[in-house]
Amino acid sequence: MARRLQGIGTPVRFTFEGVAVEAAAGDTVAAALLAAGHRDLRPSAVSGAPRGPYCLMGACFDCLVRIDGAPNRQACMTEVAPGMDVRRMAHVGKGEGR
Ligand code: FES
Repeated sequence: MARRLQGIGTPVRFTFEGVAVEAAAGDTVAAALLAAGHRDLRPSAVSGAPRGPYCLMGACFDCLVRIDGAPNRQACMTEVAPGMDVRRMAHVGKGEGR
């Protein structure tokens, strides 16, 4: 389980699946979600198993989420912003991003 090594100071508030999450300024969406205990961001396109942030550097694409209505955003490459609406991807592939 991920945990913060330091406090977050003045929080940046956004929502994940409609639930409030507090992040530190400069956090990526993936880091903020992991620190808040959210590890399941989308189902695998092959097996349906839960997928979540893995590499945290933009290589694996396991962190895809919908941000403010835009699908297929890499949570590990996106900095949190106040009021951001982050949602799980229903699935990856046909229909979700088109
Ligand atoms: S965690 Fe691997 S691309 Fe985001």
